[in-house]
Amino acid sequence: MQPHPKRRYHLHVRTTIQQVQAFKDRQERFAVLTAYDYSMAKLVDECEVPIILVGDSLGVVMLGYENTLSVTMDDMVRHTQAVERGASRALIVADMPFMSFQVSPEEALRNAGRLLREGGAQAVKLEGGVTMAETVRRMVEVGIPVMGHIGLTPQSVYQLSGYKPQGKTIEVAERLLRDAAALEEAGAFSMVLEGVPAPLSALITDRVGIPTIGIGAGSHCDGQVQVIHDMLGLFSDFVPRHVRRYAQLGDALKEAVRKYTADIASGAFPSEKESFTLDEAVLRQLEGKPHKAASGQ
Ligand code: KIV
Repeated sequence: MQPHPKRRYHLHVRTTIQQVQAFKDRQERFAVLTAYDYSMAKLVDECEVPIILVGDSLGVVMLGYENTLSVTMDDMVRHTQAVERGASRALIVADMPFMSFQVSPEEALRNAGRLLREGGAQAVKLEGGVTMAETVRRMVEVGIPVMGHIGLTPQSVYQLSGYKPQGKTIEVAERLLRDAAALEEAGAFSMVLEGVPAPLSALITDRVGIPTIGIGAGSHCDGQVQVIHDMLGLFSDFVPRHVRRYAQLGDALKEAVRKYTADIASGAFPSEKESFTLDEAVLRQLEGKPHKAASGQ
């Protein structure tokens, strides 16, 4: 295992898990966004978003997979490293991909350790409630902060028969309440509630002492998380109901690419300003003296 290379001192102090708890204690709503690469992480970090999630949603929006199941530990480590290089203020939470934590707590610990040690994350996120509580406890015991994730858990897409909201029946709603309590009891510092009816999220948020972070879970959660490609209009294969488009960067990007293509065709790009000059004397010499190989000598 290669240790994460420390390259420089950061001028800023990163968000800590204690500060995340303080948001809830002060009833201050907070934002979480995904990022998967250096440039995007840097831009998000400059906006002082307190938590950046390197979600396994990168499998869909960055790698073009149909779902998140194909994402590997190596994918997660590589993208987490890039985000860490770009973001110096945000708490970086790296997702544990499918089958990196379900087989045994030992394997889960090793893989979580990779995300911190090689990837440079400060915390990990994993899907599951009661069934994962023991694994969460073991991670927390060895000093790895864990964000839980319950409700619509995308890694269980086949078990759930699609991306549908969870907790609409009394049985599932009660199970989610048990899941939330188990995660808190196991020592998770926060939990994502995805695709959960708003009144149930409100109940969970009131009952647990740690922050809840909603996505498609209504306005009562302590924080909100979105996939950045969704909110910026960079991904349109499907747009979940919970998404609000804060920009249409996909359209802006296509307009720019079409203009670039047209400018090349018309000769408008590149201009002199975008080219490099050559000293006249050098040019005259080159023009007057054919190159040996070219003149056949
Ligand atoms: O992978 C991801 O981006 C996530 C968020 C949507 C919560 O799990």
